[in-house]
Amino acid sequence: MEGLCVEREQRSRTLYVYVHTFGCQMNEYDSLRVERMLAQEGYESTDDPASADVIFINTCSVREKAEQKVFSLLGRLRRLKNKNPRLKIVVAGCVAQQLGDALLARFPHVDIVLGTRAIGALPRLLRRSTEEDARTAHLPEHDEEGWKELFHQDHRWECPVVAPVTIMQGCDNFCTYCIVPYVRGRERSRPADEILREIHIITRKGTREVLLLGQNVNSYGKGLADGMNFARLLRRIEEETDLVRIRFTTSHPKDLDDELIECFARLKKLCRHIHLPFQAGSDRILARMNRHYTAADYLDKVARLRSACPDIGISADVMVGFPGETEEDFQATLELIRTVRFDTLFSFRYSDRPFAKSGAFPDKVPEEVKARRLTELQALQAAITLEKNRREVGRTREVLVESESKAGNGQMTGRTSQNRIVNFAGSPELVGTLVPVRIREAYSHSLRGELADGSAC
Ligand code: SAH
Ligand code: SF4
Ligand code: F3S
Repeated sequence: MEGLCVEREQRSRTLYVYVHTFGCQMNEYDSLRVERMLAQEGYESTDDPASADVIFINTCSVREKAEQKVFSLLGRLRRLKNKNPRLKIVVAGCVAQQLGDALLARFPHVDIVLGTRAIGALPRLLRRSTEEDARTAHLPEHDEEGWKELFHQDHRWECPVVAPVTIMQGCDNFCTYCIVPYVRGRERSRPADEILREIHIITRKGTREVLLLGQNVNSYGKGLADGMNFARLLRRIEEETDLVRIRFTTSHPKDLDDELIECFARLKKLCRHIHLPFQAGSDRILARMNRHYTAADYLDKVARLRSACPDIGISADVMVGFPGETEEDFQATLELIRTVRFDTLFSFRYSDRPFAKSGAFPDKVPEEVKARRLTELQALQAAITLEKNRREVGRTREVLVESESKAGNGQMTGRTSQNRIVNFAGSPELVGTLVPVRIREAYSHSLRGELADGSAC
């Protein structure tokens, strides 16, 4: 009887979910899905874990450091569970997939562990966990529930100006350092019609730009019956939707073909930006990484991109200290950076990962050598980024206004087509519009400008 009253009391007040996301944009997208699903169940999002009824942690396992951050957050949450035993703690994402039941054993205050193909099952498992007070790890091989929350008649969720849309899951590339194929499973492309339908729904709810997501979007379409490929998907999105901008990430250099490169020259909505990780500049290391291209192949793709679209912004991922990386190999990486002159570069220190083959490779690079190489590489890139940002001063760029700037003081924030962040004085009514902004100042991570004529383009 008492239990029933508690249940009623819980139902009659607003329920809150606190979502914390580690890792890549795939996780950002899954977290967005969770917020949408739980909004349908009556939950509101909160920034305060102490007032939440459900805490949802989306985890990343790509590097050792990422995994450690997850464990330290989970440790800190024990206190909240002690204070509020009715709190439900859910752990999803790649660490959840990697550890499954072991995570429940290690963290007795965790209620639900959700594998990377189990996001859709959350509302069901949450209800069960409340009714039966049962702890569970659910790691299905396939996404059984699909994207049901999208096609619910009564959407009680909102959409941001820039929204991610997953177009494929998993990865078949098996780069030797990488855990992703093991935790995200085999590559599966979503049918184009379903992607288009999702974009129609979110554009009606205010989205103006989509970020199409996949570990290797260039191989989109594999396994779909109608001979679909990524360039064709882009053309359909350009023609059939009301979006103003399309972006995508990530591209694998081995699969970047001329048909896709041509899209940068032809499609008006496609942003002039590509994220094209190269990982290393030495052919010997690239072969040991199982990347299937050489530094010369990579430079050739960059040259083709720049000839199709001269002002394209190029960003990439690179790592230092892969097993067997000599000083000479490292110099080849620096040389590639000097040649390409990336707009932005995400650089990492190699770490062994469970399942990944390179863990067993000989000639591990000492941590202090990795640290020195990373510092040197980042100093080189910081100078290039700043120099390229400074070249923007005096230009007028079209900016899609995303939100008010976190810094406040009447500043709005958005991005250029090339993916540079621009802050400028403006009013909140501009959110969701494309405006011309004249760039006045350049910093290492952003630009500052002013509205060129005060009106939307
Ligand atoms: N699918 C994307 C990358 C996803 S992982 C691609 O192929 O480009 C994001 C980045 O993490 C990788 O590009 C790589 O630079 C880095 N990374 C992956 N495994 C790593 C490891 N074991 N150690 C250090 N960095 C790693
Ligand atoms: Fe990992 Fe390579 Fe797949 Fe990217 S392409 S997710 S680096 S295995
Ligand atoms: Fe991390 Fe998994 Fe993404 S390991 S980078 S959250 S695919």
